[in-house]
Amino acid sequence: MKYNFDEIIDRKDTDALNYDGWRQYIFKTDKDAQFAFTDNEFIRMWVADMDFSTPPEVLDAIKARLDRKILGYTKVYDDEYYQIFKDWCHRHYDWEIDPREIVLSPGIIPALNRLVPLLIKEDESILIQTPSYTPFKQAGDYNSRQVLYSDLLEEDGEYAVDFADMERKIKDKSLNIKLFILCNPQNPTGKVWTEEELIKMGKLCIENDIWMISDEIHCDLLRNGVTHTPIAKLFPHYEKIVTCMAPSKTFNLAGNLMSHIFIKDEEVKKEWLRLYDDFISPLSLVATKAAYSQCDEWLKELRNYLDDNFKLVQEFTQIHFPKANFKIPDSTYLAWINLANYLPEDVDNQQLSLYFANKTGILLEGGNMFVSNGDNYIRINLACPRTIIKEGLERIKNAL
Ligand SMILES: Cc1ncc(COP(=O)(O)O)c(C=O)c1O
Repeated sequence: MKYNFDEIIDRKDTDALNYDGWRQYIFKTDKDAQFAFTDNEFIRMWVADMDFSTPPEVLDAIKARLDRKILGYTKVYDDEYYQIFKDWCHRHYDWEIDPREIVLSPGIIPALNRLVPLLIKEDESILIQTPSYTPFKQAGDYNSRQVLYSDLLEEDGEYAVDFADMERKIKDKSLNIKLFILCNPQNPTGKVWTEEELIKMGKLCIENDIWMISDEIHCDLLRNGVTHTPIAKLFPHYEKIVTCMAPSKTFNLAGNLMSHIFIKDEEVKKEWLRLYDDFISPLSLVATKAAYSQCDEWLKELRNYLDDNFKLVQEFTQIHFPKANFKIPDSTYLAWINLANYLPEDVDNQQLSLYFANKTGILLEGGNMFVSNGDNYIRINLACPRTIIKEGLERIKNAL
């Protein structure tokens, strides 16, 4: 192995959300709120960023850019930037993109918040699949659009789309659904939708003239042997698909604030550019170029390491929590585990994160943090050195 994913990196006092911002984010308290464990004692397995170093190739590119001494106003003026990303999409997804569709966004959450009013009117509503990444719902809430849920079906840890439910809701004129936000791969379940499933969902939207936003932020973090298909690749002529991709999860660059939003519709793209054609950070620009051009090997090793972390959790649950419902997900570094058979009866499902924080000193996300259909689940982040995961699992075992 060329890269060291076992390294323990001190994130204290870096103003990291993961390390310093958990009280405000998870518990909505102020930064001085007291818990049963001290800050140094907590194990952090919550928000989706990694405890691994960003690839050294990316850090070197940022350092080299700093050596150019001036950090002035910056935009992408070089064609090489888009060529690099085009090559990435070709190499990894056999997807021939048109870079003219791409607009830049500081993140996918801001992109969702911006897109909703550009795509649908106030009396039109949004469909999401639950359990869901909460900002999908918030993008509707913040823009005063109604958000409707279609619960995913689950059997033995395997998730499936409830097509009958989706179709019923989409065809119900009184609900006026005009936008479907798809998460592929899905957070929190890690499910990578098959081409067959994507075609079925896509056709349903096309036949009913519905916009699709496909959030594919986790698409590079696949288990070995799994392939991801961008839904836009399957429907190259449907203008009402917006695809969101980013280097942020893949290369631990969330603070880089760069993501790629593919908008095919000329009018919508024009409006986006009128409102949001911002300057970008020169450091982010070179970081993104380095990530997509020099880090395939790093990503390969990361994926192997994550695969082994998942195997560890699987073996541990089989021995110590045989009645937990857990399946290694197709993608992401997030384990989604149903602990219904182990949680004490008096534990409030709305307070699972608090229960684990005070009982085990682990910061994780309870199923209630994923809109709906997540009772008795915990989501733990496995993008950390194996020694930390082992300690975390022991703590959970001892508590339950
Ligand atoms: C599905 C999904 N979309 C978007 C984001 C966040 O995107 P960004 O940091 O680009 O706003 C996350 C982060 O966890 C996510 O899981």
